[in-house]
Order: sequence, then C-alpha cells, then structure tokens
Amino acid sequence: MAAPPRLIALDGPSAAGKGTLARRLAAHYGLAHLDTGALYRAVGRRVLREGRDPADAAYAAQVASDLQPVDLEDPELRSEATSQAASMVAAIPAVRANLLAWQRRFAAQPPGGKPGAVLDGRDIGTVICPDAEVKLFVTASLQARAERRFRELQAAGADPIRRAVLDEMAARDRRDSERAAAPLVPAPGAFVLDTSELDADAVFDRVVAYINSRISPRRA
Ligand code: DC
Repeated sequence: MAAPPRLIALDGPSAAGKGTLARRLAAHYGLAHLDTGALYRAVGRRVLREGRDPADAAYAAQVASDLQPVDLEDPELRSEATSQAASMVAAIPAVRANLLAWQRRFAAQPPGGKPGAVLDGRDIGTVICPDAEVKLFVTASLQARAERRFRELQAAGADPIRRAVLDEMAARDRRDSERAAAPLVPAPGAFVLDTSELDADAVFDRVVAYINSRISPRRA
C-alpha cells in the first residue's frame, strides 16, 4: 500500500458525517485523530459551568488559553446547550487564536508516534492546516443532517422535537457560516462530497478512493 497521507483536513457542517468518517480514516491509514469541535465545545461548556455568558469575548478567550484535558471529558460536551455555546465562542477571534497553536502542534507532532493526523472541524483546510496534503469538505442538506441528529437523539433515549432539532441546527449553521472569523467554507482545492443520499460506508469508500488516487505513486 502507498504511504499514508501526512495530514488529512476534514471540514463540514454539523451532522454531515465528519466524526464517523474522521475516525474511520484515522484507523484505516494509522493516523492520529483530533475532533477540533470538542475544543470549542469544551470552552463553551466551561463558560456555562462557571455561570458566565458565552458572548463575553474576554472571558471565553481566557478559558480557551487555559483549557485542561479534563475539560474535554465533561459529560455535557454533546448537549444542545453546549452546542449553542460552542458556536457562540467559536465566533470570537481571540478564542480561535488561542486554540490555533494547540491544533497545529497536534498536526505537526501527532501523539502516539503516529505518522500523521486527521483533523476534523470547520476551518482545518482554510486556516489551521492550509498546506494539508488532503483536504475534504463533507456536507449534506439541512434536512438530511437534522434528520440524522433527530435519530441520534432518539437512539440516545431522548424525546426530541423534529422541528426544534432542525431550527437549532439552522441557527448553528448560520453562526458557523456567517461569522467573520474563519467562516465555514470549503478550502480551495478541497474534495467536496454531499452525503445527503449516502450512508457511512459509501462516504468512506468514495473518500478512500479519492485519497488513494492522490497519494503519489512513487511512494507506493
Ligand atoms: O463539530 P462540532 O459540532 O462539535 O463543533 C462545535 C462548534 O464549534 C460548532 O458550532 C462549530 C465550531 N467549530 C469551529 O468553529 N471550528 C472548528 N474547527 C471546529 C468546530
């Protein structure tokens, strides 16, 4: 097999299938994986836990500069309240700046002696790792993504309201795409895949075929 890619930058909106794809790519190519959304979630969650306002830029920036490993293990990291707070703190330039070095270090020196890394998020190919060897942008219609999230919540034992899930996702999409600081856009040259009609296996197969076609034959 060809040598694995050094760096895979994977961007896209929420519930487009990034997380599953990133984990599978990391396992397939033997790379480390960083879910960068978890960093923004950890900042948003800690701001809420400390009773502060996620719109308070100075406070959120301070939390981002002092993020602790334990913050990434907070059981509320995936809650809806945390999701909304994360998208608010993610719009603050100083928060993004304070998380940048950490993400670049992970990409440059992947943990566990791995030969490379997969980073998934919103601005990996555009801002964090613009020189990544492979850039992917995975997306899906708002309806398809909201339906996936609705089913995930149901499977987790919650009793979600379909319309509310869609409205909350639309609000988050707007914040992620319309913010001035690193808005969600495909990086130039990214492989863009719409997963609305594809299951996780089909997404994985298409992306692996694309990556393998990009891996230089002389490294095979
Ligand atoms: O992927 P996620 O839903 O866990 O991301 C949580 C929030 O963080 C989301 O509103 C977008 C933001 N985010 C970001 O701005 N940049 C990243 N690289 C990753 C996530």
